[in-house]
Amino acid sequence: MAKKADRAVGVDIGGTGIKAGVVDLTKGELVSERIRVSTPQGAAPADVLAAVHEVLDRLPEVEEHLPLGVAFPAIVKRGRTLSAANVSDKWLDFEAESFFIDGLDREIHFVNDADAAGIAEVRYGAAAGQDGLTILTTLGTGIGSAMIHDGTLVPNSELGHLKRKGASIERYAAYSALEREKLSWEKWAKRLQKYYTYLESLFSPDLFVVGGGVSKHPDRFLPLLDLKTRIVPAVHRNSAGIIGAAALAGD
Ligand code: BGC
Repeated sequence: MAKKADRAVGVDIGGTGIKAGVVDLTKGELVSERIRVSTPQGAAPADVLAAVHEVLDRLPEVEEHLPLGVAFPAIVKRGRTLSAANVSDKWLDFEAESFFIDGLDREIHFVNDADAAGIAEVRYGAAAGQDGLTILTTLGTGIGSAMIHDGTLVPNSELGHLKRKGASIERYAAYSALEREKLSWEKWAKRLQKYYTYLESLFSPDLFVVGGGVSKHPDRFLPLLDLKTRIVPAVHRNSAGIIGAAALAGD
């Protein structure tokens, strides 16, 4: 069997920002600066590729030979993106992995962003050693989800697209809803209460992990939730996507 890499680069493409860093795969930690650029308006493929070039160019040159993982905010099935909730429709049913391989002129590992965050948390974070079902949700521009059972990821769960009043529930409960509607933390937490209670009724999980940018402020909303299931912030906060993408690339 080939030796696993010790370090890899992760790029996490989100609806709002594109982030990258070099990851120590033994510790599951960033060992470089975390580089971030804003996601280009409209998030069309060519513009996203240019932004990924930009973040990679800003990493130290010595990192060029490392395995590269790219996390993307859509369903990713055999390298194709099958949805486009917070990015351009051009990604719908698009050979995204080949597009990045050609555009970057290097191999990549391509994965859904929330699944990447789930991998980071199960290998190196809040879900390490957890048995049964862990549901990680990222609360950001949209809601991403990773379902992990006894350490194994069930990919592309897309629990932000459960329906509420005919629309995806992420419109109502993502962190972007708090910002867009200028909700108080208390009002937003009431929405999260409904969302996580609904997830509990569907899946009876053993642990919820909350990731995304807002996991920097767990004290503002986690104590306001009353759930049967333990709910904790992602240890790797908003870097979980970078770390998980890098970890998968290093496998
Ligand atoms: C997308 C998911 C993604 C999530 C977080 C959702 O709108 O459908 O694939 O994981 O946003 O970025």
